[in-house]
Amino acid sequence: MSELLKVSNVTKRFGGLVAVDNVSFSIREGETVGFIGPNGAGKSTVVNLLSGYLKVDAGEIEMDGTRITKMKPYERTRLGLSRTYQIPRPFPELTALMSVITSVLCGKRRINQSFEDAAVEATQYLEFVGLFSKRNILARDLTFYELRMLELARALATTPRLLLIDEVMAGLNPAEAKRAVDMVVRAKEQFGPTIFWIEHVMAIIVDAAERIIAINYGQMIADGTPDEVINNEAVIEAYLGKGWREYA
Ligand SMILES: Nc1ncnc2c1ncn2[C@@H]1O[C@H](COP(=O)(O)OP(=O)(O)OP(=O)(O)O)[C@@H](O)[C@H]1O
Ligand SMILES: [Mg+2]
Repeated sequence: MSELLKVSNVTKRFGGLVAVDNVSFSIREGETVGFIGPNGAGKSTVVNLLSGYLKVDAGEIEMDGTRITKMKPYERTRLGLSRTYQIPRPFPELTALMSVITSVLCGKRRINQSFEDAAVEATQYLEFVGLFSKRNILARDLTFYELRMLELARALATTPRLLLIDEVMAGLNPAEAKRAVDMVVRAKEQFGPTIFWIEHVMAIIVDAAERIIAINYGQMIADGTPDEVINNEAVIEAYLGKGWREYA
């Protein structure tokens, strides 16, 4: 597998707080990589730096050999990098269908696509996430679960090579959370993106990921197979807690 994303010595500060501290890792094409750590560890900040929502203070990010450190979010999207947000960020006044059409038209290789073709394609992504019947509903009138699925449809509609998932389960009831996780797994099967996936439920991430990266206070503390990481002393100390398996 070739290297799709390379993160080298990336640092992000918020005032005096070093939220991401000299972090380096790589993601190979086709992998599903879990990203774990306690609340406030810096996980979402890393995703925000990868997507271009935030700027790094130091370090470099490369996507498939291209330096993207200074690129705007939409430029990264065209290179095949897409993400979902921990808290959905819809366009409240757009319908579900228009929201996804917007993503189709912003995605890579879509510059000259007609609106009609984009609408057909967007409809397919809405069908995939189970929102076809909601296509003409304004985003502001969707339920939280439906907004999560709309986020996923919008991300997939840009045809990502690398999909960054920031907690697809957060805020959902157990039945919805299971459906959301299944949807991400199915999205990988159907559309094939490499996935970088933040989730707090260890059983889910251990099952879905081939590799897990763990951070604590902005610093990487582990990078290995799920088995290696859940048995890593630093990870148990910082995040899992002794005896965590009894509750997992
Ligand atoms: N825009 C911001 N301005 C100031 N501080 C921030 C900002 N975003 C994040 N932080 C701080 O940076 C640290 C890392 O936050 P981050 O959201 O990346 O954590 P996280 O690992 O995603 O946590 P959670 O599991 O709770 O989502 C926290 O201390 C947080 O309060
Ligand atoms: Mg977060």
